[in-house]
Amino acid sequence: FGRTFIGLEQVDSTNVKALALAREGAAEGTVVVADSQTGGRGRMRRAWVSPPGVNLYCSIVLRPPLPSVRVPEIPLVAAAAIHGAVTQECPELQAFIKWPNDLIVAGRKVCGILCEMESEPDFTHFVVVGFGLNVNLDPVPDELQGIATSLAIETGRQVSRARLLAAILNRFERLYREWLDEEDLGSLLPALEEHAWLKGRALQIEQFNRVLTGTEAGLSPQGHLLLRQEDGTVVPVASGEAHLRPV
Ligand code: BTN
Repeated sequence: FGRTFIGLEQVDSTNVKALALAREGAAEGTVVVADSQTGGRGRMRRAWVSPPGVNLYCSIVLRPPLPSVRVPEIPLVAAAAIHGAVTQECPELQAFIKWPNDLIVAGRKVCGILCEMESEPDFTHFVVVGFGLNVNLDPVPDELQGIATSLAIETGRQVSRARLLAAILNRFERLYREWLDEEDLGSLLPALEEHAWLKGRALQIEQFNRVLTGTEAGLSPQGHLLLRQEDGTVVPVASGEAHLRPV
């Protein structure tokens, strides 16, 4: 990844830019990185706080030659790659993967992943995987106090954005290629489960039109969260936002 590398000082959103490039035919592995974003996008139509000089805002174009049902697995492949890179560059930290697409350090969000898919007229599709990683952000803006953190805040030192980005792109490319050759998340499941932030916890999962309640009981090979409900039945949950439930 990154053979085509577009580095920008400022952009509205690296995802918007990467989607536009993909529509014009950008190759798989095209990387868009910006020092700051004026319209950083989060999940659920939220904004992503994107000040200059401190963080990583990056989007990668993928063209998986697979049926689109496998696309929802991609955020977890990315999460595993970013988790591995963060652990390599900041070995003093214990980072967790919060299903389906966040990284957590010290109970707070340090990274968010936003995957967007579009279909082409020839029925192929492309995916843009965007991630925002709080690297040297310090302090956290008031509105994110207690919710977000950064690698610098947690390690007490400056962390190299260039080294991190290189580590993420290298790992993501390797994991993505391995994943393409498999039927599902198979070989990534042990790492995803080992570092799962939600492991065994009481949860509420917020979906567009309903809220599911239960206890985390693992991850399916399709990347669905397994939720054990009150009555003991285990249901696979494909998407949503998980909140820890006070017990
Ligand atoms: C989330 O809501 O947790 C996902 C946040 C994703 C933010 C990243 S920053 C780089 C890329 N460009 C965007 O506009 N969003 C993603």
